[in-house]
Amino acid sequence: MQLFRTGDTPRPDVIILTHKLTREYDMGSELIRALRGVSVQIQKNEYVAVMGPSGSGKSTLMNLIGCLDTPTSGEYWLNSQKVSDLADDELARIRNKEIGFVFQTFNLLPRADALHNVELPLIYAGMSARSRRERAAHALERVGLGNRMDHKPNELSGGQRQRSTRPRAPKSWGCSASCTGRGRRW
Ligand SMILES: Nc1ncnc2c1ncn2[C@@H]1O[C@H](COP(=O)(O)OP(=O)(O)OP(=O)(O)O)[C@@H](O)[C@H]1O
Ligand SMILES: [Mg+2]
Repeated sequence: MQLFRTGDTPRPDVIILTHKLTREYDMGSELIRALRGVSVQIQKNEYVAVMGPSGSGKSTLMNLIGCLDTPTSGEYWLNSQKVSDLADDELARIRNKEIGFVFQTFNLLPRADALHNVELPLIYAGMSARSRRERAAHALERVGLGNRMDHKPNELSGGQRQRSTRPRAPKSWGCSASCTGRGRRW
């Protein structure tokens, strides 16, 4: 664990670092302080579960870590880049290149076959048609779906659907904001 102060740069092995991260929702009559200064460090190859009671701020934190939202204050460093003060279009690029989400719901396109569903993020990443087909096919083979590439989501079992979402996450770390349990309030 790095002793981190404002103005420092994270060590290269720290893939995610938040420093005094806050997120407030201004409801007009009320200010909701969903995150009140969260400082976490996650190293490469580390698996982390975020747990806490309902309303404690897990999804808010996951939205920030996943670059879907920006903090009210504090710093967020992803892979040695300070992303907490980036604009929306830069965040969209980072989401595409750096972040793999495995959603609780599968978010597969119903009318596209498994190969096309896996290929989709690579289209947005600007990869050529041939390389993305090859990569998507290889990724599906790795999860045992080499013989199901031309199946639409409703022609796959539940587990096969879930497995076909995994290769869509370009990096191996995935986010799932599904854990609700007893734990600290952020
Ligand atoms: N868009 C929003 N506007 C206003 N308040 C919000 C908004 N989103 C979340 N909140 C509030 O912020 C707090 C944290 O919400 P969050 O969704 O992060 O909780 P959670 O830990 O994911 O809960 P759950 O386990 O129920 O999913 C809650 O009090 C919630 O009511
Ligand atoms: Mg939640």
